[in-house]
Amino acid sequence: MAKNTSDFEKLKSANQPTTYTTEQLQEFVMCAKDPIYFMEKYIYIQHPTKGKIQFEAYPFQRDLIKTYWNYRNTIAMIPRQSGKTTTAAGYLLWYAAFNPDVTVLIAANKFKAANEIMMRIKYAYEELPNYIRPGVMEYNVQSIRFDNGSRILATTTTPDSGRGLSISLLYLDEFAFVKPRIAEEFWTAMAPTLATGGKCIITSTPASDEDMFASLWFGATTMHDENGNEIPDGVGTNGFKSFSAHYSEVPGRDEEWAARERAKIGEEKFQREYECRFAGEESTLVSSLTLQRLKGVDPMYKTGDVRWYDKITPDRTYLVSLDPSAGVGKDGACIEVWSLPDMKQIAEWNSNRTSIPNQVRTMQTIINHIYSDIKKQGFKGEPEIYYTLENNSWGEAALQSVSDIGEENFMGQFLHEPRRPGTVRLRKGLNTNGRSKATACTKMKSLVESNRLQIQSKMLVRQLKFFVSKGDSFAAKPGENDDCVMSTLLCIRMMQMVTNWDDRVGEMMKDVFDDNDGDHRDPLPFSIMIS
Ligand SMILES: Nc1ncnc2c1ncn2[C@@H]1O[C@H](COP(=O)(O)OP(=O)(O)OP(=O)(O)O)[C@@H](O)[C@H]1O
Ligand SMILES: [Mg+2]
Repeated sequence: MAKNTSDFEKLKSANQPTTYTTEQLQEFVMCAKDPIYFMEKYIYIQHPTKGKIQFEAYPFQRDLIKTYWNYRNTIAMIPRQSGKTTTAAGYLLWYAAFNPDVTVLIAANKFKAANEIMMRIKYAYEELPNYIRPGVMEYNVQSIRFDNGSRILATTTTPDSGRGLSISLLYLDEFAFVKPRIAEEFWTAMAPTLATGGKCIITSTPASDEDMFASLWFGATTMHDENGNEIPDGVGTNGFKSFSAHYSEVPGRDEEWAARERAKIGEEKFQREYECRFAGEESTLVSSLTLQRLKGVDPMYKTGDVRWYDKITPDRTYLVSLDPSAGVGKDGACIEVWSLPDMKQIAEWNSNRTSIPNQVRTMQTIINHIYSDIKKQGFKGEPEIYYTLENNSWGEAALQSVSDIGEENFMGQFLHEPRRPGTVRLRKGLNTNGRSKATACTKMKSLVESNRLQIQSKMLVRQLKFFVSKGDSFAAKPGENDDCVMSTLLCIRMMQMVTNWDDRVGEMMKDVFDDNDGDHRDPLPFSIMIS
C-alpha cells in the first residue's frame, strides 16, 4: 500500500488502541446512532469560494440523509450543484465507519467522478478525531479498508463493476449519464446483489425519459399496484423511495438567480439541469418535480357543490374569481376562492352543466357565505372580500348576470382591469389576453414551485399536471380541463392588484409581488421547450 508520511499523520492506523473520555464515548455513541448528528458535527467539506468549512446540511439535505437512512433503496433526482455528491459521500463514510464488515461500492459514470467521490470521503475522514473514526488497513485511490472490517470501493459503472463482490451498499452517482446499454447490463448484473438485501442509493439529474435511470425513477414514483392499491411505506412499485428537491431549496437560488442562469445556459438546459425535466417529457407550466410533491386534500366541508378547504376567519382577505363557460357540457366553469396573506386555497366549485346566470349566482352565494360567516363571528369592520370574473367570450353574458342581480347584492368589491390614464373602462372584470395570461402563468409557476401557494384541491393539482405548453402559451392537454387553473390565474392577478393598494396585505406580501403592476409589463422571459 502506497502512503507517504504526511498521510500517516492524517490517518488513524489500524487496530490502534483508543482511549475514550466519558464525553468522547458519548459522542461516539451519538454519531453511531445518527448520521445527521455525525455529519453536521464532524464532517468538513471544501467549498469552492470559502475553502474548508464544516458541513451544515441544508434542510433538504437533512431530509435526504434521513431517506438514505430509513429506506433500503433511494433514487434522488436533484438539480445540478446542489450538494448531492457531498451529502452521499458523508453518508457513505458514516455507513462504513459505524457498521462493521460492510462493503460500499461507489459507481460513477466516469473514472474521474468516482475518484472525486472517494477524495471527498478521504477529505472528510482525515478531519475526523480519532475517537470517532476507525483505523485504516488500506488507503488507496480506489479503495479504503477500515479495521472494523468495512471497505469502500470506487469504480466506473461497467457491467463488471460489482462482479464477485458481496455489496452492502451500492451508490450510483449521475446514473442517467451512463451509456444506456452499459446501464442496463450493469443493472442486470447487480440485481441479484440487491435482491439479497443490499442497499442502493442513486443520485442524478435526468437525461432522456427512456433510459434506465428514467425507468427506475418512474417505478419509484408509481405508488399504486395494478389494482390501484397503495404500496406501503411510501415506496414505488420497484421498491425504491423517490426523493426530489427544487432548485430554490439551495440557498442563494431565487428567481433572480434563475433568470440569470436561464439567460446564460438557455431554457432547455435550465429545465433539464435545474428543474430536473427529462428530455422528451411534455412541458408542463409547473415543473414535474413540484407536481410530484403536490397532492391535494379532501374538502373540509361542502355547501351544495362548493368544496371548502378551510374555515373562514375575519383576519384574512378573500379573493373570489369566476372563469365562466357556456355550461353546455364542453368546457367547465370554475370559481376559486383564495385568501391573503397566506395564499391558501379556501374553496372551489366547477361544473360544465350550469348556465351562466347560475354560475354567477353560485359566485354570489359563495361571497355572501364568506361575508355572513365573518359577521357571525362578531367581526365589527367590513370583511375584506374581492371578486372578479373573466370578461372575454362568455364573460359578456356573466357581466350581464351580475348587473341583473345588482352589484349591491354581492357582499364584496368587484375588481376590474386597471385603467390606463386617460382611457375609459369598456368592460368590468378582468380581460385575459396573451400577455396578461403569460404574466400570471409566470407568477403562478414561481409561487407554486417555491411552495408559497397553498394548493388544497385535488382537482386543481390534476389540472396543473395536464397544463402544458401550446404554441407560445399554456393550456390543457386535449381531453383535459383547465378551468380551475384559469380561475386560479384570475385570483393571482387579484392578489397582485390587492397587494399593490391594500397597505395591510401589501406590507406582508411585498416580497412576493414586488414587480408592481405586472399586467402592464412584459412577461418575464420564459420560453417553451420544444420536445
Ligand atoms: N450544505 C452545504 N453547505 C455548503 N456548501 C455545500 C453544502 N453542500 C454542498 N456544498 C458545496 O456545493 C458544491 C456542490 O456540491 P456537490 O458537488 O456535492 O453537488 P452536486 O449536486 O453533486 O453537483 P453536480 O450536479 O455538479 O454533480 C460543492 O462545492 C460543495 O462543497
Ligand atoms: Mg455530483
